[in-house]
Amino acid sequence: MRKLRIKRRLVEAALDQVFIEEAPVVIVVCANEVRSSQGYGVRGETLYCIQDTAAAIQNIHLTAYSLGLGTCWVGAFREQEAREILKIPHVIRPVAIIPVGYPAEVPTAPSRRPISQIVHYETF
Ligand SMILES: Cc1cc2nc3c(=O)[nH]c(=O)nc-3n(C[C@H](O)[C@H](O)[C@H](O)COP(=O)(O)O)c2cc1C
Repeated sequence: MRKLRIKRRLVEAALDQVFIEEAPVVIVVCANEVRSSQGYGVRGETLYCIQDTAAAIQNIHLTAYSLGLGTCWVGAFREQEAREILKIPHVIRPVAIIPVGYPAEVPTAPSRRPISQIVHYETF
């Protein structure tokens, strides 16, 4: 019952992305700004801890997919609300919500920008 309430409140914090509530498991990936700043100063606090979570998030997606599970990277949510719902201390920053479940459908892959628009080559 309590779990259901938490997921419902997360849906609201995430601007009504209702599929979050449908997933049996919801992972919230957080950055530890303080720990990162202790090792790496301002760059650790403002950049490395976010990069760390991005790598972790990608790994979660890839591992889930390899197990036949579906996920979604949810970055659109009100951070402070998520903190309050999950009792996350203020020095910890929730970065992504990842609902995990067996996919109801297999979507077609979205189109990709051509590599020439993504990679810049410089000759020396
Ligand atoms: C930083 C970030 C935030 C995202 N936030 C959301 C989100 O709030 N809701 C959602 O449905 N998808 C979200 N997505 C997932 C994208 O909609 C898309 O499914 C995903 O990026 C894969 O497609 P792409 O490789 O074409 O970008 C997010 C993706 C990223 C990278």
